[in-house]
Amino acid sequence: MTEIILKDIFKSYDQTEVIHGVNLKVESGKFLVLVGPSGCGKSTLLRIIAGLERITSGEILIDGNEVSNIPASERGLAMVFQSYALYPHMSVFKNMAFALENLKMDKKIIEEKVNSAAKLLQIEDYLQRKPKALSGGQRQRVAIGRAIVRDPKAFLFDEPLSNLDAELRVTMRKELSSLHEKIGGTMIYVTHDQVEAMTLADQIVVLNNGYVAQAGAPLNLYNNPSDIFVAGFIGSPKMNFIKITADENAGSFNLCSDSFNLKSGHKNLKHNSIYTLGIRPEHIEVTNKEDSDLIVNVDFSEQLGSETYFYCNSKDINQLIVHHTGQYKINKGDELYLRFKRDSLHLFSEDGMSVTNN
Ligand SMILES: Nc1ncnc2c1ncn2[C@@H]1O[C@H](COP(=O)(O)OP(=O)(O)OP(=O)(O)O)[C@@H](O)[C@H]1O
Ligand SMILES: [Mg+2]
Repeated sequence: MTEIILKDIFKSYDQTEVIHGVNLKVESGKFLVLVGPSGCGKSTLLRIIAGLERITSGEILIDGNEVSNIPASERGLAMVFQSYALYPHMSVFKNMAFALENLKMDKKIIEEKVNSAAKLLQIEDYLQRKPKALSGGQRQRVAIGRAIVRDPKAFLFDEPLSNLDAELRVTMRKELSSLHEKIGGTMIYVTHDQVEAMTLADQIVVLNNGYVAQAGAPLNLYNNPSDIFVAGFIGSPKMNFIKITADENAGSFNLCSDSFNLKSGHKNLKHNSIYTLGIRPEHIEVTNKEDSDLIVNVDFSEQLGSETYFYCNSKDINQLIVHHTGQYKINKGDELYLRFKRDSLHLFSEDGMSVTNN
């Protein structure tokens, strides 16, 4: 079992700093998922941990030992890439056995390790095939198998499922989750996929432009985003943001826009100040006129069968996305009465920080 700690990691390529003082801790046996927009430094951070990229300053601790100057081959970590990176001229067996053969490991032991990993990943029947005779999902299993046989201290995954089609991703996601349960290793996993992040992670770290924006358990990030960036990044479709003015009224505040005037329970706002109200599509209900907070016009709807998304507008709101469970037939231009769930309102001050979290 392995604990990985990053302390004040900075990384520049030539004159350009791309990682600006990252601190994070992956507890032994935990599954940490790194998310963030393209170019924010996810792969760079993973490669830094693997030893494929040198840091400009900071410390990388694996089980308490500083490894910044230790080459990748001696860190005992295994990395699995999006592109699989299999040797095309070698059989599946050979691909998985290769690193162990290089270590001059006993043939019998290699065979046992490869067979047991192949069984775990359900690729026993393909061991004699070349990678090109495998599907994308099978190739990715081989790449994972190649990592498993080395008994690494930790697994590093860089978007391993992003080349697979939607159905296979779901299958592989479940398999990765049960793999983590079975082998219990420390895992660091980069993904763009919200569902992968929410379902696989013990802890999600949201990176923004080379900084850690927030780290925490998946539902904690969903329920209590610390700033407007994390609020907009976690959740799909994303949170709606609406500019409002806080209007003090006998000790409590009304949240006002041209489209609505909400009585809120918020106490510590500044009278007459502008905030951004955040409300997720799933926290807006379709209701009747009497109970409604606002009226909107529907631009279009997405009818998914089990659920419906409305894309709406009102006086001062360009687009408001509303989630509705089940089916709801509606035409472009129709009106809807909506109500915001009071316990699911987020407020952000002008610097983007949440004022509803504490
Ligand atoms: N070898 C390099 N030389 C110079 N700049 C680089 C190099 N590798 C990455 N960068 C820059 O570092 C930043 C972070 O890149 P990185 O690949 O870590 O992003 P990422 O979060 O993995 O993005 P994506 O989601 O697109 O894979 C980017 O601005 C990128 O252009
Ligand atoms: Mg990347």
